[in-house]
Amino acid sequence: MWTSVTIFILIQFVRLELSPNFEKCFKDFFYQETVPTLKGQSNSTQICQLLGNKYYYATNYDTNNRIPYYSAYRLSFDNCGKRYNKWFIEPQLAGKDNPNMALAKNKNATIYGSEQAVDNDYTNSSFDRGHLNPQMYHCETNNSRKATNTLTNIAPQNHIFNNIIWQKLENILYNISKTYCDFAGARRYFITGVLSETNRSISNGRVKVPTHYWTAVCCDSSGVNDTIRSEGWSAGFLGENANNSLIYINEIENFLANYTPRLFTDYKDQNGNIIKNCLFNSTKAFNIIDEIAATDPRFIKPIKESLTKRIFNAVYNFRSYILDKLIFSPRTDL
Ligand SMILES: *[C@@H]1O[C@H](CO)[C@@H](O)[C@H](O)[C@H]1NC(C)=O
Ligand SMILES: *[C@@H]1O[C@H](CO)[C@@H](O)[C@H](O)[C@H]1NC(C)=O
Ligand SMILES: *[C@@H]1O[C@H](CO)[C@@H](O)[C@H](O)[C@H]1NC(C)=O
Ligand SMILES: *[C@@H]1O[C@H](CO)[C@@H](O)[C@H](O)[C@H]1NC(C)=O
Ligand SMILES: *[C@@H]1O[C@H](CO)[C@@H](O)[C@H](O)[C@H]1NC(C)=O
Ligand SMILES: *[C@@H]1O[C@H](CO)[C@@H](O)[C@H](O)[C@H]1NC(C)=O
Ligand SMILES: *[C@@H]1O[C@H](CO)[C@@H](O)[C@H](O)[C@H]1NC(C)=O
Ligand SMILES: *[C@@H]1O[C@H](CO)[C@@H](O)[C@H](O)[C@H]1NC(C)=O
Ligand SMILES: *[C@@H]1O[C@H](CO)[C@@H](O)[C@H](O)[C@H]1NC(C)=O
Repeated sequence: MWTSVTIFILIQFVRLELSPNFEKCFKDFFYQETVPTLKGQSNSTQICQLLGNKYYYATNYDTNNRIPYYSAYRLSFDNCGKRYNKWFIEPQLAGKDNPNMALAKNKNATIYGSEQAVDNDYTNSSFDRGHLNPQMYHCETNNSRKATNTLTNIAPQNHIFNNIIWQKLENILYNISKTYCDFAGARRYFITGVLSETNRSISNGRVKVPTHYWTAVCCDSSGVNDTIRSEGWSAGFLGENANNSLIYINEIENFLANYTPRLFTDYKDQNGNIIKNCLFNSTKAFNIIDEIAATDPRFIKPIKESLTKRIFNAVYNFRSYILDKLIFSPRTDL
């Protein structure tokens, strides 16, 4: 009896790095070991991203549209190696037994591409291979860097948005985390996802083009000493996947409210208080939001006192924008 159970588990292990509910990696990459629930993520496959038999992050992948819903990862501050330029695919999404990601070069779309994008889908598409989990956040080892270059962590991203706006946000969040979330015992949980509010696509409809990229940051202080338990904070960021778009900086409580009640689960602190949404210190979170908003006029903070009427209207309608697809024009005067 014992033997047959063991064999069953071993077979599961070999065949399923595609890991339902992230059962093999949720402890490492999700705040409080809790995977958030987001509406509308149908036909998703949970991938514990494996390279060299080590897990590096987690991706909820949309096999119909061949882009991720989100990647969940942690930020470390190790020194970086060189940029890596090759791409991987996920053999198990093509029914292969290899649990590690594999190089994408020359992989045939007929054989590998029924449930994922292949490299050629992006060639000549005019869109960048846009990372959700950014390469520059991963310098722990060469493999941690390489592992972000899998096409299951990629969606078609507008070149200017990718290279100028989103990259600037990534740099700022790195610096802000270094300044405000590098205390002993701090853990930095990030979730980066895309929204697809239209049916725009590339590669003859194979790969959907998202309308928005979003990132949520949780500076987790639940594991630190009591005296600095109030150092944690969180915030959410959303930008349109378009030229010269704005990035909306949100308090985490209202972030993606139409998609999820809570990206970061409740945590009970040492005094029995419930910390919601990883907001260990909301004053600190608001200060950080202010500080980020001050770095670039394209970063917009949805608090009415600090905004022109026009921007306020846009932001005021922000939630219904997501819900009803109201269109507002990005500012052209920046
Ligand atoms: C899920 O995938 C199946 C098979 O491709 C498809 O028929 C169905 O429409 C998809 N569901 C949604 C909600 O996209
Ligand atoms: C891809 O594989 C299919 C099926 O095996 C084959 O018919 C096709 O010629 C291959 N395409 C390329 C570009 O190799
Ligand atoms: C991309 O465009 C170039 C130049 O037109 C062409 O040679 C190449 O075959 C195209 N590649 C793909 C994958 O469509
Ligand atoms: C990482 O990559 C660099 C350059 O590709 C190489 O020089 C270095 O030896 C690698 N480090 C390890 C630990 O493999
Ligand atoms: C981040 O910090 C580095 C080092 O202090 C600095 O060179 C860089 O300009 C900063 N980037 C942003 C976007 O603030
Ligand atoms: C907490 O404090 C104790 C005693 O001062 C120390 O040994 C320990 O390293 C601290 N833990 C963290 C995570 O800083
Ligand atoms: C995308 O296409 C599907 C299937 O045709 C349709 O149900 C859906 O409403 C479309 N979504 C948008 C935003 O146009
Ligand atoms: C927007 O970006 C695309 C390429 O991503 C470019 O072709 C187009 O000219 C740009 N439009 C404007 C108004 O800058
Ligand atoms: C919360 O953060 C603010 C700003 O960083 C700080 O002044 C305050 O002491 C913190 N509150 C607690 C309870 O630690």
